[in-house]
Amino acid sequence: MLDPGDVNVAPRLVHKLKLSDEELTLHHRWEHDPKIHHLHTILGEGESLKKVEAEELRRAWRAPEPPVERYFIEVVDRPVGTASIHVDPPWMMGTRKPTGWLGICIGEEDARGKGIGRRVMELLHQRCLELSCTRTELGVFEFNDRAQHLYSSMGYRQIGTIPHFTWYDGRWWSDIRLQLTLD
Ligand SMILES: CC(C)(COP(=O)(O)OP(=O)(O)OC[C@H]1O[C@@H](n2cnc3c(N)ncnc32)[C@H](O)[C@@H]1OP(=O)(O)O)[C@@H](O)C(=O)NCCC(=O)NCCS
Repeated sequence: MLDPGDVNVAPRLVHKLKLSDEELTLHHRWEHDPKIHHLHTILGEGESLKKVEAEELRRAWRAPEPPVERYFIEVVDRPVGTASIHVDPPWMMGTRKPTGWLGICIGEEDARGKGIGRRVMELLHQRCLELSCTRTELGVFEFNDRAQHLYSSMGYRQIGTIPHFTWYDGRWWSDIRLQLTLD
């Protein structure tokens, strides 16, 4: 458990090719946490929860296409969330290749709001450069103020929006596409 005042915690990214049963249980819990579910899952009209079976998650973690690295975010050896880099996935908006498409989710509530997200993004950028990706792109839902604040403070700029992308709080919201050049 992290104290509310813990602000100097250094996260690390642990690359995983498959998940243990224990890790799968954690990931499954994070995926369905109602406090953050709508922030990372695309929902259809009237939908508030998209259930994913644990085995489906396990399979997704193993899938190598498009080229992807998936990580557990660990803080003092405790897993607190997940992150990923897809290289040139078909859903990216930009055309410059190679691009690292980033995903991040801090699943443990006590690990949010402590600057961990910013440090994880820096680690993802470093890893993108190692993978020769000098450009990153990501998508963030229009109502996700915290994530948008984080990305824009790191230099991300909007390159487009996809309207009617996800359903939340009784209406449709857009996906905002952001990019950052790393070189
Ligand atoms: C979004 C996320 C990665 C941010 O990581 P974090 O470690 O929790 O980040 P922080 O709480 O330190 O916040 C980052 C910034 O947003 C600000 N912020 C926090 N809550 C905010 C809010 N409701 N509105 C606007 N800004 C907010 C913080 O003040 C901080 O800015 P600062 O560094 O200038 O002070 C993390 O909260 C998370 O995984 N959330 C759930 C899933 C998710 O939204 N994933 C991203 C999908 S695109």
